[in-house]
Amino acid sequence: MTYNELYKLLENHGQTHLLKYWDELSEESKANLAKQIENIDWKLLDILKNRSEIENRGVLAPLGALEIDEIEARKEEFEKVGIEAIKAGKVCAVLLAGGQGTRLGSDKPKGMYNIGITHPLYIFECLINNMMDVVKQAGAWMPLCIMTSEKNNDDTVAFFEEMNYFGYNKDYVNFFVQEMAPSVDYNGKIYMEGKDRISLSPNGNGGWFTSLEKAGLVEKLEKQGVEWLTIFAVDNVLQRINSPAFVGATIASGRQSGAKVVRKAEPMEKIGVLCLEDNKPSIVEYYEITDDMINLRDERGELLYSFGVILNYMFNIEVLKSNMNKRMPLHIVEKKIPYIDENGELVKPEAPNGYKFETLILDMVHMVDSCLSFEVDRKKEFAPIKNKEGVDSVESARELLKLNGVEL
Ligand code: UTP
Repeated sequence: MTYNELYKLLENHGQTHLLKYWDELSEESKANLAKQIENIDWKLLDILKNRSEIENRGVLAPLGALEIDEIEARKEEFEKVGIEAIKAGKVCAVLLAGGQGTRLGSDKPKGMYNIGITHPLYIFECLINNMMDVVKQAGAWMPLCIMTSEKNNDDTVAFFEEMNYFGYNKDYVNFFVQEMAPSVDYNGKIYMEGKDRISLSPNGNGGWFTSLEKAGLVEKLEKQGVEWLTIFAVDNVLQRINSPAFVGATIASGRQSGAKVVRKAEPMEKIGVLCLEDNKPSIVEYYEITDDMINLRDERGELLYSFGVILNYMFNIEVLKSNMNKRMPLHIVEKKIPYIDENGELVKPEAPNGYKFETLILDMVHMVDSCLSFEVDRKKEFAPIKNKEGVDSVESARELLKLNGVEL
């Protein structure tokens, strides 16, 4: 597009400030900025304007889980199915590592964070160690796809290379890069990150399947015989990935997906709860259900809405493919967004200063017809690292790792 065309486009959307430094730019920078502007998804900004339309939830109902006692009693049966599937190469793990980890506040990808005390122990290393347990148990490597973003891809790939993939077989590892979305101030004006760069951030963890497909990996995995994808977050250092009992129980249940869940520590715990919405699996936040519902109990005195998700899911590839034409809800999230001020100086704000646009994987659960809710022991499988200190922090994760015999 020429300058005039770009100007016209931006004028229509009230964003001509993006061309403020045009005359100062080299030809190459002009071309880069033009490309970024051409790629802006204007629909996102329209949604921001009309966001008073709150999406109403359907009819909610509790969804019971396959509980730990039963899983223990049937462990052998589930593990047999799981190990067979893993050995046959039907299960691939997908690590979501495209996030910016702003709460942890490190400039590097979150997985490169060293949580060791007496020796280095990186978050990525913990995850690979956990996967290696399953590799050993099943006697087979599992394909692993790692989603990064434009912001952290080079660092992530270089780190895995430098660390020799922490002993994982690199032939089974694929990296793919997720898409970006513009960040805006509270008035919907797109921030600039440099004179020739608009402020872009990863578009949330809900776009992983589309990005996997765009990278040609869905086709590649299917050709290899993969039928199931298990998805997990970078920050839960204790989670078991593709644990054979989970894989086996999900397949044996005949459901389209599975989700690892933990029993809520207390009714108001800030964790998304897996339940039914209009008879389909769905995740609701603690603030979306009424007090009455939160406190509902069954005949054993257990909370009915009591199983929280830990971002460890398993989906059938075919089912995902057939659902991908559905639009995912867009979440508008307040964040701290670095930007250049009117003098062209980069500012790194201390407090949130605008919005990012994200789709979330938790909404994917509602796109499929059925989900096995699979309970795990939170002391053994749930140690998320979101913050530097306090709740869900490096400190709390270290305590839980020690409790599970991991040397720090
Ligand atoms: P979080 O919701 O904790 O976000 O991500 P975050 O970006 O890592 O951290 P904050 O909120 O900025 O502090 C949950 C999981 O989803 C991945 C993260 O890497 C993490 O594994 N994620 C998040 C992506 O892969 N892409 C995204 O755009 C966002």
